[in-house]
Amino acid sequence: MYIKPFLVEEWMNAHETGARYNIAETCVDSVSLNELRELAGVDGRALWEEFCGRRLTYGDIEGAPALREGICGLYRTISPGCVIPTHGAAGANHHVFCSLIDPGDHVVSVMPTYQQLYSIPESFGARVSPLPLREENGYLPDPDELRRLVTPGTKMICLNNPNNPTGALMSGELLRQLAEIAREADAYLLCDEVYRHLNQEDGWSESIADLYDKGISVSSMSKVFSLAGLRLGWIATRDREALKAFMSRRDYNLISCGMIDEYVAAAALRSREALLARSRRIVRENLAVLDAWIDSEPMLRYVRPRAGTTALVHYDHPMDSYEFCTRMYKETGAFVTPGDCFGQPRTMRIGYACDAQVLRDGLEAVSRFLRTLER
Ligand SMILES: Cc1ncc(COP(=O)(O)O)c(C=O)c1O
Repeated sequence: MYIKPFLVEEWMNAHETGARYNIAETCVDSVSLNELRELAGVDGRALWEEFCGRRLTYGDIEGAPALREGICGLYRTISPGCVIPTHGAAGANHHVFCSLIDPGDHVVSVMPTYQQLYSIPESFGARVSPLPLREENGYLPDPDELRRLVTPGTKMICLNNPNNPTGALMSGELLRQLAEIAREADAYLLCDEVYRHLNQEDGWSESIADLYDKGISVSSMSKVFSLAGLRLGWIATRDREALKAFMSRRDYNLISCGMIDEYVAAAALRSREALLARSRRIVRENLAVLDAWIDSEPMLRYVRPRAGTTALVHYDHPMDSYEFCTRMYKETGAFVTPGDCFGQPRTMRIGYACDAQVLRDGLEAVSRFLRTLER
């Protein structure tokens, strides 16, 4: 079955390892098990001994109870039976589509966003209508535009909140409006929420799973909790039919997630406040650095992110974004992502949740490249 190449992942795979200044990464600066142990206040020796003493069976097929409990703590209305652990959010999104989408179905997806949300349903033979997120609207979806795209036959609407690449954040009020449109069509509303909890202002943003009975939330340990190496994500929904479809499909493509991964994730979620505090500090301090830099660069503009780890930065030059990013990478070592990976020409995506010094050095390298374009 044909699927379009995943542009952002192809770009990352090709350049990530050799990057001198990696300001393309989207995870909040990843932690080691040692750092996690310190942050979580876990006794490392006891943890290790417990691992070593365990028989490595398939574990709890539906997910370790401690993990599912920990995930429930991130929602207002979700109980353990509403949580399906998966291999990352990438596995979760894929699982949602392969469980619920048939050829000929109509799906609406915001754009720009993570390409899974439109290219996977398209590869399954669905008709996908893009719902554009526009700079002049702060990259937020327009409910009237969604209403015009949705028909009584629409099967699913796909959102991403906070948004990758723009860092736009939908309010609870806007999410409720979009959920109302989905309800009128009896459509599922999938929301990829991997950057949830990374708001620039205090407070948690709402999850679609708490707001709409056919809302499906996808998230993971990768971005907010800085543990991408666990490859652990989840789907959360109160919709019984969808849960049944997810569990049934899971017997074919997953069986269970890794016992060790689940164990570590459960420990991290028990100490979520410490991890969240660290992550929020990083994204807030680093966005201040990015913001000051954008202000000082006359060739650049952006819509200041309100959440997440990424910003979409426009540059005032006719060069194609792949050429711009490739030349910059080769000439200065600064590694960012071409906006064309998201259908956004003459832009670059900067991931600002990395180590603060790497961010500063990376931005300086971008500035050096911009100076060469002025000549
Ligand atoms: C919006 C979005 N969803 C899903 C993923 C995949 O995340 P995971 O590491 O949990 O598979 C990413 C990774 O960049 C992402 O940006």
